Amino acid sequence: MKHFIDLHEDVSISDLEELLSIAEDLKAKTKAGIPHPLLAGKTLGMIFTKSSTRTRVSFEVGMYQLGGHPLFLNANDIQIGRGETISDTAQVLSRMVDAIMIRTFKHQDVVDLARFGTIPVINGLTDDQHPTQALADLLTIKEHKGTLKGLKLCYVGDGNNVANSLLQACAKSGMHISVASPASHTCPSFYVDQAKKDAAVTGSRIVMTTDPFAAAKDADVIYTDTWTSMGQESEKAARVAIFKDYQVNGELMSHAAKDAIFLHCLPAYRGYEVTADVIDSPCSVVFDEAENRLHAHKAILVKCLG
Ligand code: CP
Ligand code: NVA
Repeated sequence: MKHFIDLHEDVSISDLEELLSIAEDLKAKTKAGIPHPLLAGKTLGMIFTKSSTRTRVSFEVGMYQLGGHPLFLNANDIQIGRGETISDTAQVLSRMVDAIMIRTFKHQDVVDLARFGTIPVINGLTDDQHPTQALADLLTIKEHKGTLKGLKLCYVGDGNNVANSLLQACAKSGMHISVASPASHTCPSFYVDQAKKDAAVTGSRIVMTTDPFAAAKDADVIYTDTWTSMGQESEKAARVAIFKDYQVNGELMSHAAKDAIFLHCLPAYRGYEVTADVIDSPCSVVFDEAENRLHAHKAILVKCLG
């Protein structure tokens, strides 16, 4: 595994299993206070053209805990923000840092960074995918349920970057996934077809529907994300109208399995995609999920850079 850009393209089924096991091991070591300076002397450049709390802090702290050094590069402060090309940026950074993590709009920019550079590239979210989130989600589900294969995850809401990566992650790990979205905002068929290919190998079942209650039926995991992703702020009012029937609330949760857990990548908007009584209830594991970004990202760093 050279890059961590696209779960379908870059991460094999065995890579995924290995990443989860490295993450579990590093989490245990962190909790026990056992030092693990596996990346001593290594440097990670972190380019952000969108906001972030969890991704930035977890990669930054993760690099420190691994004995390496993170460099936060706000796109407005580096020459990329003034029009320097991705190709030149990739070639320059390849001479100075050991890997790049990037959060940006166009997925192709991340692919190009990897194509023109010579060092590993990690996708910290694009308009199309959020693979580091999906890895932390699998880690969280495995911790709470003991396994992944054969479980049912229900994603309700916008067929966005988080949903696309969850489709890929579930298909690779043998989890069943039902995605309920309005027909106008479902996941692109490209991601559904791709997931079905992996599902044929792992036994995962992929269901796309417009009916949130059908999707939630007997689900072990209920997942949602904001209705308005970064870059879509001007569409907020229209989106609230489009997604109003796709809220995760007590009624929707009552269709899931009795011991179902609730996940959300965060940031969450209570009263929109999820009600406060769900996200702040005992079935919600969103803060375990947020913490697991740290452990999952350390596993990605070790596998790409170690
Ligand atoms: N879930 C997630 O990626 O959070 P941030 O936008 O805060 O990084
Ligand atoms: N879909 C959201 C995820 C934020 C972590 C966005 O792209 O803004």
